[in-house]
Amino acid sequence: MKEFEVLAPGRAEVLGNHTDYNEGLVLSIAINVGTRIVGSAREDESLLFHSEGLKESWQGSLSEMRPLKEPEATWPNYILGMAQGFRDLGHAKHGVEFRVSTTIPIGAGLSSSAALEMASGLAFQNVYGVTVDSLELAKMGQKAEHTYAGVKCGLLDQISVLMGKDKHLTFIDCRSLEVRHLSFPEGWTFVIIHSGVNHALTGGEYNERREACEEAAKILGCANLRDVTPGELDERKAELPDLVYRRAMHPVGETARVAQSVSCLATGNIEGLGKLMFDSHQSSIDYFENSCEELDFLVEQARQQPQCIGARLSGGGFGGATINLVREDEAAEFAEVMQKRYQEHYGKKPLVLVSPPSMGAHLEDEPSLTTLSR
Ligand code: GLA
Repeated sequence: MKEFEVLAPGRAEVLGNHTDYNEGLVLSIAINVGTRIVGSAREDESLLFHSEGLKESWQGSLSEMRPLKEPEATWPNYILGMAQGFRDLGHAKHGVEFRVSTTIPIGAGLSSSAALEMASGLAFQNVYGVTVDSLELAKMGQKAEHTYAGVKCGLLDQISVLMGKDKHLTFIDCRSLEVRHLSFPEGWTFVIIHSGVNHALTGGEYNERREACEEAAKILGCANLRDVTPGELDERKAELPDLVYRRAMHPVGETARVAQSVSCLATGNIEGLGKLMFDSHQSSIDYFENSCEELDFLVEQARQQPQCIGARLSGGGFGGATINLVREDEAAEFAEVMQKRYQEHYGKKPLVLVSPPSMGAHLEDEPSLTTLSR
């Protein structure tokens, strides 16, 4: 079989932080950096993966798959989890050889792991000559995270990576799993700034936050926090331990903000979306405590720049990147000022990426990646 190439982008969460596993609403984009797999079939059962970035190879077999644990290299877990999914469906008939490379900064909260899963998903589809429904493929990636990487994530990352669309925001209702593309107004773009603080969700904070949300839903007697509005949560505040109330208020407020942002977009009120992004970050500080000093600094600096109308942390939190809503023709100027401010304060230049909403995972015929500027 001839070699083929697939490309899966990273993603940025525009609004709707930690709502996905609470069956809430999310707004996201696929970004213009991504993970590429050059793949081919093997006749035996062996799995051969090579990471060009890490200059490391891994070899195993379809018949002996298990989650890898440190000190072993753990990056193959995301591919192995997908291989397991294809095997469970009865599609994995023979081994494969994948060469992986990426332009997604690792630890920036831009879903390098979901990109690797979804790139693997498309690669396995191609190699086995089958088509798996997009939502099923996204769920397979989520299961890979749960069972192979140990992170109890929702579906935001996989759906955004797989179904993102050029010039559109991806709206996801994580209860019905309805996915809609909302057109993104011309003249605006997103600037993503990596704080340089590596976010690692495998550290346990993520799963802890999820447990607190589940505890809140249990005390409130509902299936999950999607059933609660901010007003209702406030009315029943006394029933919850303070910490549990604050943890719950964040995703509940975020789902309300995503709903408002959809109205903003429908009426061309882009400033409204920007304001909701600032509110979202404040809620991370006040309620969810998943921000950090560097992210707060970046959001405060962004607030002072005339080119920017909204900024917040994007993704899991505890480090990683901010996403900034910026006038397109002033994005380069904004990026430069922000790098300068950050460097003056912290003594190092942050990675900056100007990314309009980009295309989701696909079989590659033409290279479409940009490079990061440092
Ligand atoms: C990480 C998880 C997602 C989602 C976000 C927070 O990216 O993988 O499922 O929960 O954090 O919104």
